[in-house]
Amino acid sequence: MFRGWMLAAAAGTMMAASADPAMPWLDPATPAEQRAAAAMAAMTLDEKLTLILSYSEPDNLDKEPEDIVPAAVKAEVRAKMVPQSAGYLPAIPRLKIPGQWFGDASIGVHVGNLGRTALPSSLTTAASFDPAVAETGGKMIAGEARLTGFNILLAGGINLAREPRNGRNFEYVGEDPLLAGEMVGSAIRGVQSMHIVSTIKHFAINDQETHRKTVNATISTEAMRQSELLAFELAIEKGNPASVMCSYNLINGIWGCENDYLLNKTLKHDWKYKGYVMADWGAVHSTADAANNGLDQFTGYPCCGMKGAYFAPKYFKPALASGQIPPARLDDMVKRILTGLYASGTFDDPPVPGPIDFAKDFQVSQNAAEQSLVLLKNEGGLLPLKTAKTIAVIGGHADKGVLSGGGSGNVMPVGENAVPGLEPVNWPGPVVYIPSPPLAALKAELPGAAIGYDDGSDIGRAVEAAKKADVAVVFVTKFNTEAFDGALELDGNQDQLVAAVAKANPNVIVVTETGGAILMPWLGDVKAVLGAFYPGASGGKAIARVLTGKVNPSGHLPISFPAGNEQLAHAVVAGRDVPDIMTADPAAAAAITYDEGAAIGYKWYDAKGFKPLFAFGHGLSYTSFATSDLTAVLQGNALTVSFTVKNTGKLAGKAVPQIYLAPVDYKAAGWEAPKRLVGFSKVALKPGEARSITLKVDPRLLATYATSANSWQVAEGSYRILLGQASDALAQTVELRLPAASWSAVHAGP
Ligand code: BGC
Repeated sequence: MFRGWMLAAAAGTMMAASADPAMPWLDPATPAEQRAAAAMAAMTLDEKLTLILSYSEPDNLDKEPEDIVPAAVKAEVRAKMVPQSAGYLPAIPRLKIPGQWFGDASIGVHVGNLGRTALPSSLTTAASFDPAVAETGGKMIAGEARLTGFNILLAGGINLAREPRNGRNFEYVGEDPLLAGEMVGSAIRGVQSMHIVSTIKHFAINDQETHRKTVNATISTEAMRQSELLAFELAIEKGNPASVMCSYNLINGIWGCENDYLLNKTLKHDWKYKGYVMADWGAVHSTADAANNGLDQFTGYPCCGMKGAYFAPKYFKPALASGQIPPARLDDMVKRILTGLYASGTFDDPPVPGPIDFAKDFQVSQNAAEQSLVLLKNEGGLLPLKTAKTIAVIGGHADKGVLSGGGSGNVMPVGENAVPGLEPVNWPGPVVYIPSPPLAALKAELPGAAIGYDDGSDIGRAVEAAKKADVAVVFVTKFNTEAFDGALELDGNQDQLVAAVAKANPNVIVVTETGGAILMPWLGDVKAVLGAFYPGASGGKAIARVLTGKVNPSGHLPISFPAGNEQLAHAVVAGRDVPDIMTADPAAAAAITYDEGAAIGYKWYDAKGFKPLFAFGHGLSYTSFATSDLTAVLQGNALTVSFTVKNTGKLAGKAVPQIYLAPVDYKAAGWEAPKRLVGFSKVALKPGEARSITLKVDPRLLATYATSANSWQVAEGSYRILLGQASDALAQTVELRLPAASWSAVHAGP
């Protein structure tokens, strides 16, 4: 599992300064853990304490008393921190331990008003069903981060879309643990291959933004292990993030950043995690409880209305002296932090600010969008647009740009915000439209067509424009953001606009730019829908190229779109009636019980027998594919599935064959739902081309988690293996018997 720690150390060898025999931790050829142990052994208590507390907001820091933040620290933070970034942790020059520069990076480098390249939102990239797209994106972000001066990226968002209205779903990767684990693990791999630390966040069950700092999420350990924690487990195995960011919320009554079950028992003991746990900004509530229960680093003091600098020497030293925190625990914290930093290679190959090749990075972003946009509906082959002579483009600021999400996952565009002044203009805004207008891109792709634009604000006028055109393309948008949850309904007059235009013109295409799932009351009245989510820096071009067939769409949904609010597991988002989460009285904190357990997304809809608007895994193409020759082989608990996928149409395209496993009696097997995704692949095929694919199934996907034995257990019985191109379009089935099996949930390792 921790092969990556060694590889990163070796990679650093190439560019490191020569080793100093008096400081063996500077030798990049030595494994990261040994380097960390050697450096720690040379440290004074004060130096150790330096590593466990990072700072932010120099202006507010200056107001702190000397016994909490000494003047020298204030001066260093002010001098060194990248302005308007998430934080800085001072260097230890005596031991040649560099400073730590923290930058948010969900979909690109977020740093105040500096323009940087936005990838499509993480949810969009997840729709590519292609881990290579996520990895390339991670590399791109890390490249810009290096040139901005960061060595630590607050990236790797993986909370499952348990709550479809969660304002941060755009920063995450959908509702399925396997897909999420593969995509986030690959993104982290991409980041860290550039010798930059990546976090994975927010650990865990941080699945709504309403009262995000105080909400108590109640959920069984079985359900956690089979859903969100499984996603974290798979992603950590694949990506080896140097750090895990613990979350704001309480889990089963205990704060995420002092949660012994999550941090000590699960992450560090069962998963043998060797890196460090850093707190989300303002998520720490104690000194000894946090340290003893697994938090390694307090971050971003004094931002975000924090109550205390709990890991400052003023509090930490007495806790050590009184024995409340054992000295060995501090050593473990320091060793973990340094292990992560050395393993990433960042100390051997430090970032150097410099100019960024935006044209190159825009290409990465555009490619990611083109692999990811999801063609949801295409009746009568209206798309791709080839023959229309007159096209009315309507709404969504399509003449100016494409929407992106808010909060720390926002990225200021290179060039101006294309639509400034929209609310909220301040945190968690501004609302940003990236200047990549679909209108201009469409005109460039279709030079022979007359393409007009109406902003959609006056429905009557938009209808008149639509009447005069062969085809109407209506853009609808929905701003989602950290700190607030949304609704599934579109805002303003957008539903009415689409419905009215659809009455006036039989050829309506809707392009949706949204953070996640939305309701589409007009779906039956329009011919085509393209799900563009937040498509990133070159989103306008990607949209135009998909609409016109330059690019054959190949994205598939990483989330289900419910048909209505009545299908959701929770009628309302808990605590929604108290609007201002930042000033809300913690005593009025919300509580949510996730009694749907691990039945998230399609699993919930399947278990309830609901038909969603669009199912998980759904996505159309301009060509057609067929799957066949499904076989399955079981050796021990290793299940291998093979099949053929063929392009049966006339255009080159990319198929996304998906394998699901379904116990014949899912309740008897103890499963949360009738079926689970257990494998997928993205396959490029020329017309007529066929390819044989073999996929290995992770044994944990066959099993349920048993808390009492801390083990995975497979129930003996008959299971169906289902093959198809969406969770609701499974054409092939084979049945096999799985024998009873069980194995420890504790990973092998030192
Ligand atoms: C967010 C994190 C982010 C941190 C630093 C928090 O409010 O939840 O995702 O990394 O701020 O900006």
